[in-house]
Amino acid sequence: MGYLKSGLIAMSVCAMMGTTAYAGEELDVVPSRVPGAQRAAAKALKNPIANTPANVAKGKALFEGQGTCMNCHGTSGKGDGPASIVFPIAPRNFLNAKFHKNRTDGEMMWVLKNGSNGPNGTGQPTPMVALVPTAISEEQGWYIILYERSFEPK
Ligand code: HEC
Repeated sequence: MGYLKSGLIAMSVCAMMGTTAYAGEELDVVPSRVPGAQRAAAKALKNPIANTPANVAKGKALFEGQGTCMNCHGTSGKGDGPASIVFPIAPRNFLNAKFHKNRTDGEMMWVLKNGSNGPNGTGQPTPMVALVPTAISEEQGWYIILYERSFEPK
């Protein structure tokens, strides 16, 4: 009886997780998150780190470690990290080709420095907080951006 009961509880928890694993919707990826007045400068900024397998690996280690990115974006890069379930706005899915087409590396760096609190269609700030320079340096951020680009579907 006890066994049956715990089985049922486990099943209903699984059912709940199934419906709440993606608590929030991903906002429209097309509009730049950089406010208009700063956009041209942000777009023009180039990643100074060479796109080599060794540098991408360094970015992966930072994404999954010191940068804390995987907590929300997931080791999969799909935006399904363990903390993502508590947010009303889903973390970016880096496997979304549309995102990569609509963003330059410089715009991604702007978000790392300022958070995604610029224009996003909702008028609200998002859980994407500024992590440069609090958690990681700007240089480390560029390595992570290389890694994020490696998720882009070919
Ligand atoms: C607390 C959760 C959380 C953490 C930690 C986090 N992110 Fe995010 N991130 C989000 C959310 C939520 C969004 C979606 C915001 C939006 O749609 O504007 C997002 C969006 C982004 C975007 C897309 C911005 C755009 O222009 O559309 C990038 C790039 C990004 N995050 C990179 C990172 C990197 C790199 C790290 C680690 C250094 C990181 N994030 C850590 C929650 C998080």
